[in-house]
Order: sequence, then structure tokens, then C-alpha cells
Amino acid sequence: MNTTESRNSLRRSFRNARKALTVQQQQDASAALFTQIEHFLPASLNRVALYLANDGEPDLSTVIRSCWQHQIATSLPVLHPVTKKHLLMLNYTADTPMHINRFGIAEPALNCQAIRLLNQHDVLFMPLVGFDKQGNRLGMGGGFYDRTLASTVNCESRPRLVGVAHDCQQAESLPIQPWDVPLDAIITPTQVIQPSNS
Ligand SMILES: Nc1ncnc2c1ncn2[C@@H]1O[C@H](COP(=O)(O)OP(=O)(O)OP(=O)(O)O)[C@@H](O)[C@H]1O
Ligand SMILES: [Mg+2]
Repeated sequence: MNTTESRNSLRRSFRNARKALTVQQQQDASAALFTQIEHFLPASLNRVALYLANDGEPDLSTVIRSCWQHQIATSLPVLHPVTKKHLLMLNYTADTPMHINRFGIAEPALNCQAIRLLNQHDVLFMPLVGFDKQGNRLGMGGGFYDRTLASTVNCESRPRLVGVAHDCQQAESLPIQPWDVPLDAIITPTQVIQPSNS
């Protein structure tokens, strides 16, 4: 199997594993992740980018609501209307008008005044399909996060890149490609992995 085939095969098995989780397992995972994330986040925090769960990804709604209660601004990714396969980050509140994108995922309706630059965020929580303890990330295969983050890789003021996953999404060692942007941390219901600390 070449690298592309083995990445696609891993994607299939990790996606099947997370889609097979029961409603109860998903709820337990969300509750455990909420506690892990609460402990992980620094005390002083202004803006966080997150995602709305899709395809069996861990649900971060309680984290989002908690941010709102603590006056921490939240952003969600939106498909870039011009630059193909890139994401924009838009401010997200309980009143934000939403729109369903071409992948069937809810996103804030495009509004230029709500756009936030990546570097305005303290932390960017990302969904993933697979991860390993070295901080490598396998996404859904579109390259959206990789393209969006490529220009920030060597930037000192970039947000901390944090993958959020179920434990069943862990690989021993992922086959990576040069364009894959590594994670600073991965949080699961039972683990907080910070490769640079290990
Ligand atoms: N910085 C980049 N510039 C141009 N093309 C890129 C870049 N990053 C990734 N790509 C392209 O995107 C495609 C998918 O990349 P990859 O398989 O790493 O997706 P992924 O990490 O699973 O997806 P995502 O980033 O959306 O989570 C590849 O064909 C790759 O060449
Ligand atoms: Mg990638």
C-alpha cells in the first residue's frame, strides 16, 4: 500500500470507529472532554476557535456555552467563498445566523464584520480523523485545515493548535505528508497529549 492508500484506509477505519459510538458513549465523551478542556485552557483567554461536531466527531457545545458564560469570544470555521479549500474564522454567538454548507455542516452565514484572523485566537480546537502521540493529524482528506494553517506554521503569534478526538482515533504512528500541519496538543476523554513536553 502506498502512503495515500494507507491514509485512506486509516481514514475509513477511524471514521467507522467513531460513527459506531453510541449516543451514550458520545455524551460521556463530551462530558469528559469538557473537564479535560477546562483544565487545559489557560486562565487568561480572549478568543477561541472551535467547530460544530459532524460525522461522529466529539461534540464541544458545552465548551462553547461555557466560553460564552466566561466572556471568551468563540469562532467557527466557514468555507472560504473565494480561496478554494481554505477556511475563514467567523465570530459565533447564540444569535449568529447560521447556514448549512455544501458538506451539510452548519456554519455562520458569511458576514465580513464577523471575520477574525487566525492569529487573533489563543487556541484553535480542530476535529480530526486520526492522531498519534507525536502530534500528527489526519483530517477528512480535503486539506482545508492544512491550507488555512500553512502560513501560520512559523508565526510566533499563532494560536495553539489542539486536536480533539475520541480515544478510538489514536494510531501508533500516522503516515504523514510534508504539508500536514502538526498539532501542539491532542485532547481526548482520557488524555492530554502535548508532544513537545514528552
Ligand atoms: N498548504 C497546502 N497547499 C496546497 N495544497 C495542500 C496544502 N495542504 C494540503 N494540501 C493538499 O490537500 C490535499 C489533502 O491533504 P490531506 O490529505 O493532508 O488532508 P487532511 O489533513 O486530511 O484534511 P484537512 O486539512 O481538511 O483536515 C492533498 O492533496 C494536499 O496536497
Ligand atoms: Mg493533512
